[in-house]
Amino acid sequence: MKLTNKIAIITGAASGIGKAIAKRFVAEGADVAIADLNLEAANATAKELSAKGPGKAMGVKMDVTDEAAVNAGVAAVVAAWGGVDVLVSNAGIQIVHKLEEFPFADWKKLLAIHLDGAFLTSKACLPHMYAKGSGSIIFMGSVHSKEASPLKSAYVTAKHGLIGLSKVIAKEGAEHGVRSNVICPGFVKTPLVEKQIPEQAKDLGISEDEVVKRIMLGGTVDHEFTTVEDVAEVAFLFAAFPTNALTGQSLIVSHGWFME
Ligand SMILES: NC(=O)c1ccc[n+]([C@@H]2O[C@H](COP(=O)([O-])OP(=O)(O)OC[C@H]3O[C@@H](n4cnc5c(N)ncnc54)[C@H](O)[C@@H]3O)[C@@H](O)[C@H]2O)c1
Repeated sequence: MKLTNKIAIITGAASGIGKAIAKRFVAEGADVAIADLNLEAANATAKELSAKGPGKAMGVKMDVTDEAAVNAGVAAVVAAWGGVDVLVSNAGIQIVHKLEEFPFADWKKLLAIHLDGAFLTSKACLPHMYAKGSGSIIFMGSVHSKEASPLKSAYVTAKHGLIGLSKVIAKEGAEHGVRSNVICPGFVKTPLVEKQIPEQAKDLGISEDEVVKRIMLGGTVDHEFTTVEDVAEVAFLFAAFPTNALTGQSLIVSHGWFME
């Protein structure tokens, strides 16, 4: 088990991709804080994962856009377990509109969750990693960190931004033994994507079946969704990587939808 005695905080881990990463980390021996807006769901996930072990999990209420809530959540984890070794900044939402119809409030909300969330959680965790002289920060990017799609101006902007932030952390963190990476998944069938299917069908004037077959999976090599387990495996790779060789890099996990 490569994450024994490691303490991880994963945001947005009550469901979807974050939950799968938490499951993978706990199975590798890590103690994982399930930090989520939804405390009830976070506690339920923590209970489920702790029962399986060998690592343990705890739910932490955290709105990643609220500096005081982020600092309090990280402090609670440090008080309980003594530090933070891995941060997975994963919490995210999707809002789709044509640009000329995009409500400014929605633009700001999306950027706050993805970018302020990544900044605030990193800012709160880095001093604890620097104190230990090691750590790993992982941002949940997207193929949309590298590519664009119609209707997703805010999401594409935010996900591109995470690559820049990660590169800066890789450079600043190096002397303290802290690594930084971005995972860039293709379409993964989670509540976030389920919600988009009817919305995109309506906005683009096509059927839901066409949204899935053409827009979401048309470019993959196997017409398959990326799975939460695919993404969790890459998170584990970055979290457990033994040297600085991969720091600053982003990795696309998309069944061949986007290659570089
Ligand atoms: N599903 C995909 O196809 C896909 C593809 C690429 C990247 N991603 C990214 O993966 C991440 C997770 O997405 P998912 O598909 O698992 O979504 P999801 O909706 O299943 O889970 C998101 C979680 O984030 C939490 N959350 C939302 N706002 C929050 C906030 N302000 N503070 C704390 N927690 C908050 C939600 O409560 C939820 O538990 C997101 O960053 C998303 O952009 C998803």
